[in-house]
Parts: sequence; structure tokens; C-alpha cells
Amino acid sequence: MINEQRIKETIRGLFDGIAFENDPAGLYDPLRYMISIGGKRIRPQLCLTSYGLFRNKIGEDILQAAAALEVFHSFTLIHDDIMDRSPLRRGKETVWKKWNADTAILSGDVMMIDSYKRLSRIRSRAHGAVMDLFNTTAAQVCEGQQYDMEFETRDDVTMAEYERMIGLKTAVLLACSAKMGALVAGAPDAVCDALYNYGYQLGMAFQVADDYLDAFGDVKVFGKPIGGDIVNNKKSWLMIRACEKSTDRPALQQALALPAGTADEQAAKIDAVKRIYTGLAVDEDAKYEILRYSSLALEAIQGTGLSPIRVEAMRRFAEKLVGRAK
Ligand code: IPE
Ligand code: IPE
Ligand code: MG
Ligand code: MG
Ligand code: MG
Repeated sequence: MINEQRIKETIRGLFDGIAFENDPAGLYDPLRYMISIGGKRIRPQLCLTSYGLFRNKIGEDILQAAAALEVFHSFTLIHDDIMDRSPLRRGKETVWKKWNADTAILSGDVMMIDSYKRLSRIRSRAHGAVMDLFNTTAAQVCEGQQYDMEFETRDDVTMAEYERMIGLKTAVLLACSAKMGALVAGAPDAVCDALYNYGYQLGMAFQVADDYLDAFGDVKVFGKPIGGDIVNNKKSWLMIRACEKSTDRPALQQALALPAGTADEQAAKIDAVKRIYTGLAVDEDAKYEILRYSSLALEAIQGTGLSPIRVEAMRRFAEKLVGRAK
């Protein structure tokens, strides 16, 4: 087994030493920027943690897999920030803001290609399975992102539709990360699948927490603008739950229809919608939902033959993730 400390050090070393092409700088600088400003790096962490349940030695294959997952994730964020018109990411200016949208599109594209290059270097027998998993996942993330955008202009999105959308845009990549580590380690199929389900449920918890923090987090810790989802009429977990619970639909509709052009209008709208959220206690409901998903994650790995200390390692991972403020 590989312990948490070693995984942390490995990830630090991996991203400190990662090399990208140099020219043209206009294309590769945003990549370097995005990777160097960090982020939580939970996907490579999850991949290494799940690999480390079965192996003691960290070889080249798993490092390539871990790096590919983070580079791919960072690419989705660069494009997501254009789509969500977001000026701040990881406490820094977003790529489209710092450079421009054209640069953000192309740098994002080359970043996705970079992630494939890394995966193609995997030499283990699992290579084919890893590629299949990654291809399926990458397409699903795009599908989820499309639903996310389409929901902005709808006011009848159901909780079931919301769950499907976040399952695609977010949960499948955590599921893929957990399963990929196990695949590269050569774990039995049933355990690989159980870890996929673990990652999926954890990913659901993670996105509900992201939606919660988008309204109720601290910008200095969260590193993203607070209230962006409200300004964009995103169908966040809070919004869907508020629609379910509200007995005063006109008041909710009125708050949602508030203009959000200027900074003052945005602040007023965020304030009005957050008042409705707290009035309905959907912020408290969200915390409960995050815990519910994280218990589902742990249930997914029960009875798979993983030893108690291995189950405990995955429990700790889940606990850290759901207790996050950033
Ligand atoms: C942000 O992911 C996008 C979501 C899926 C919520 P992270 O919260 O993992 O972002 P970084 O990588 O730590 O910046
Ligand atoms: C992003 O969802 C999911 C992906 C990038 C695929 P969000 O739009 O909520 O992520 P943040 O809040 O900007 O990180
Ligand atoms: Mg988005
Ligand atoms: Mg976004
Ligand atoms: Mg968000």
C-alpha cells in the first residue's frame, strides 16, 4: 500500500517537474500557467490512492495516468471558464481573462491532446482498457457541459435531470480516476468497477459541495467568484431544491428574473436568491446531500474483498473531500 504522505509528495514532484512544449509561447504559456497555479489535484490523488491499494511501487505508467487526468481536468476548466464567463479560478485570473477567449480555446485544445499523449505512453496490459475508459469519460464530460448550458435557459429542470447532468460533467471523471488507478495496478475487474462507483458517488458529493460553495463559500479560500451560478441562472443543486421546496413560486421567479448586468445588479440578485435559499434552508439540505452521497461512495466498496485498512484509506479520502471549503 502507498500512504497519503507519499502520494502528496509524488504529486508535488510530478507537477513541479512536468514539461510542456515551448513554442509558440502564446499557446503553451496558458498551459504552464494553469498547471503551476495548482488547484487541489484531487483526480491524480484519487488515481494514485486507488493504485496504491494494490501496489507499493510508483512506476512510469501510473505517473502518466495521474498527470493525464489533471491536464485533462485543467483543460475542461479553461473552456468552462469561457462558457461560464468566469473571471477567477484558483484565486487567479482565468485564462480567457488574462489572455483572450481565442487563446483559451486553442490552449485548451492542445492541453486535451497533451493528456492523450501521456495516456498513450502507458505500457501495461491495461492500456486498451484505460483508453476505452478515458474516451468514454471525456465524451461524457462534454455531454454534461452541454446540459449544464442548456439548463441556464430552462426553468423546469428536475432533480433527476440535474443529477444526470452533474453525473456527466463531474462525477464520471472522478469515477474514471479511481478506476484508472486500479486498472493500471492490475486489480480484478469487480474491484475496478466498485472503485468506479465509489468515485462516481464521491463526484456527485463533490459537485453538490461545489454548488454550495459557489453561493456560501469564501472567495479567498474557494478561489472562484461567489454567486457566479446565481448570476448565470445555473441550475445548481440549491436552485433545483429551492424550486422543489418553495411554496411561493412567484417570489422565486421574480428573484431569478432580476437583471445581472452591472456589478450592483449582480450583488443585489445574489443577495435576493441567497435569502431565498437560507429561508428555505436548502443550504442545510445541501450539506445533508453531500454526506448522503459520500456514504454511498463508501457503500460502493463494501463487500469487494478490500481489506479494512484499504477501505479506511478510501474513507479518509472521501472525508477530506466532503469537508472541503475550497
Ligand atoms: C472544479 O474542480 C470543477 C468541478 C468539477 C466542480 P476542482 O474543484 O477540482 O478544481 P481545482 O482543480 O481544485 O481548481
Ligand atoms: C464544471 O462545473 C465542471 C467541468 C469543468 C467539467 P462548474 O462550472 O460548476 O465548475 P466551476 O465552479 O467553474 O469550477
Ligand atoms: Mg460550468
Ligand atoms: Mg464554471
Ligand atoms: Mg461550480
